[in-house]
Parts: sequence; C-alpha cells; structure tokens
Amino acid sequence: MRYGPLVARLALDGSDGWNVHFRAVERKARGIDTLILTVGDSDFDSPPEAVAACKAALDAGETRYTPILGDPRLRAAVAERHARQTGRETSADQVVIAAGAQNALFSVVISLLGPGEEAIVPEPMYLTYPGTVATAGGVMVVVPSPAERAFHVDPADIEKAVTPNSRLLLIASPNNPTGAVLGRAEWQAIGEIARAHDLWLVSDEVYADLAYGDSPAYPAALPELAERTVVVSSLSKSHAMTGWRAGWSVSPNPELPRHLFRLAIANTYGSPQFVQDAALAALKAAPAALPALREAYARRRLEVAAAVNAIPGLSCRKPEGGMFVLVDVRQSGLGALEFANRLLDETGLALLPADGFGASATGHLRLNLGTPDAVLKDAMKRLAGFAATL
Ligand SMILES: Cc1ncc(COP(=O)(O)O)c(C=O)c1O
Repeated sequence: MRYGPLVARLALDGSDGWNVHFRAVERKARGIDTLILTVGDSDFDSPPEAVAACKAALDAGETRYTPILGDPRLRAAVAERHARQTGRETSADQVVIAAGAQNALFSVVISLLGPGEEAIVPEPMYLTYPGTVATAGGVMVVVPSPAERAFHVDPADIEKAVTPNSRLLLIASPNNPTGAVLGRAEWQAIGEIARAHDLWLVSDEVYADLAYGDSPAYPAALPELAERTVVVSSLSKSHAMTGWRAGWSVSPNPELPRHLFRLAIANTYGSPQFVQDAALAALKAAPAALPALREAYARRRLEVAAAVNAIPGLSCRKPEGGMFVLVDVRQSGLGALEFANRLLDETGLALLPADGFGASATGHLRLNLGTPDAVLKDAMKRLAGFAATL
C-alpha cells in the first residue's frame, strides 16, 4: 500500500540518542539496577486539587462533548494569567485550549506556515519542532545558540537567516535542553527583526514559570512583539501534569483562534471536561508553577552543576531555567553518544545524548532535574566514578 508524502517528511533521523533511553527502560524492566534521567518528567505529583477536580467531574458525569475551543472558565483563567505576565489586556477569546503545549504548537504552526515557507528556529531545539514544521510542508532554517554564548542565540544570526520566504520564528525560552532564558534586550532585538520582516513569533513558554533569575521577559509584553506573538504553554512542566495533556495557545487577537476552531473541528474536537476542570483547579491552586517543585528544581540545578563541575574532565553551566542540566563531556575524549552508552553499560546511569537537539549541543548529555534528591546524588557518584575510568 502507498502512503502520503507526509509520512516520508516525518521519517526524521535523530533517534540515536533516544536508543540510550530505550535501552535503559529495557534494562530496568529486566530488573537490572538502572537510573533513568533521560526524559523530562517530574518526581512531583500533580496538584491534589487537580486530581480531586477531575474525579468530581467524572462523578458528575462530565463525559460529553465540550466547547471546541475550550471551557470558557478555563480560557478566562489562562487569559488572566497571560495578562498578569504581560501587563496586556487579554480576553478569553484569544485563548484556545489544547492537548498540551505540543498540540497547541502543532495547530498554531500549521495554521501560520505554508509549503516552502521558512520557520527560523534557534538550535538546540525541542525534538518535536522538525516534525511540526515538516507537517506544514515548511522549511526549517536553523540558527545556532553556541555553548560559548551560554547557549543564547545572537539576534544578528536570526537577521542573517531571514529571506523573503521567512514566515515565523519559533523560540523556546527557557530552552529545552539548554535552560537558556532570553532577556528583555534580546527579545527587543528579535522583535525589531520580526517587525521589519513581518514575521510571526511562536513563543514556546512551557518552562516560563521555571526561570530562576528575575522574573522572565515575556515577549508578548513588548510593543515590538505583542501584535505578532502567539504563546503556547501548558501545565505539563510547571504543575507536574505531563500526562493530562492540558495546554493552550494565546493569540494576539481572536482571529487566529477562529482558524484554530476549524482545525480543531477536523482534529481534536475539544478537550475532555474532566481534564479542563483539573487544569482550572491547578491554576487556581498555583497560578504559576507549583512552589515546592520550582524551589526543588532551582536548588537541584545548583547542586548538580556543582557536583558535575567537581568531576575532572566534565563541566556544566548553571541552567537559567527549565528542568534540565547539560553536562559537557567534550573534554572526555568521547562523543556524547559513546559516553552515554558506556555510562549506561558500566554504571546503570542513563543520561540523554543532546546532539539530536542541534549542533550547538554536540558533546553534551541532558540530565532531568525532576528526579528525587537521593537518586540525583547516586547519579553524580556514578558519573564521577565513570569519568575517573576514562
Ligand atoms: C520546549 C518544549 N515545548 C513543548 C513541550 C511539550 O509540552 P506538553 O507536554 O505540554 O505538550 C516540551 C516537552 O518536553 C518542551 O520541552
């Protein structure tokens, strides 16, 4: 049988790194001592308020079709949060509820980008971006965020990448995997480029509440970007709710949501009421990130960074945000994939080779901070023990 061309466009490479993860999962299933610090899930539980609201919704028989763009109460709560973050008046009809930030990102990008049109994306980037752009038939134009620039993209490189076919910028700050958080001046420079070339900004803010410095710069707050920024976000990371698939987009006005409405009709046809009730309860209980989760990640990133930097031959930067630490193994004499494979085989510790996130992450391993303290300590011991054998 034949398949459509999309199938070939989605058959992307970059799976080598994940093989380390799959091997680790298999080892663990076979009962072999294994620490899995590869995926971005959390050791924290979802807020009890969310769980209770979900149960109550199910008990009340909330199992039917729902409004396509989302429960008006949840849309209003997200709009309120956006207004608080940006200082801009935001109405519920700018908000569209989605099955996680990824579903929001997917719907927004395929609504803004056409065949042959270009999306400019700083790398390292989250691994779903290439498939998302490919689905739209778009072309991904990658700009570097080198380790030597603390993984911050240079706006001048974005400007150089612009062509008459450029349609949008897709940027995550804080970044996965680097933890880089762009500041106000960087966003202003990016905003001037976006305005000069009439580009959309798709701002992936799943880690926005996990920025550990001063409060992060929200691009939609800036005059240069407010009218052209679509924010995508979710409760996955900030509220330890990855499995609920509770996310949203916030558009600059209600026009894009009207297009997203037609797309949702053809696709998800709304979001489960019991998930939306849980999301609303979570946002009411903790309007930003769960305080204990945020505090733990902020502390762990410092402890892990200090532990890694004490290991001869390894180093790492203190992440500015997000839930990952990137361990630099470039001085070890091993590539990231070989390092990760041997680390797993010889110590049982699984870290994710980050090369697949983009060239700037070459020679780095990603470590998940959503890991219990005792496991992190054990992981640092294993890492140090392995490095000493090299
Ligand atoms: C940068 C980035 N964007 C989006 C997502 C997807 O989040 P969600 O679970 O809300 O779909 C992730 C998840 O890891 C991510 O790291």
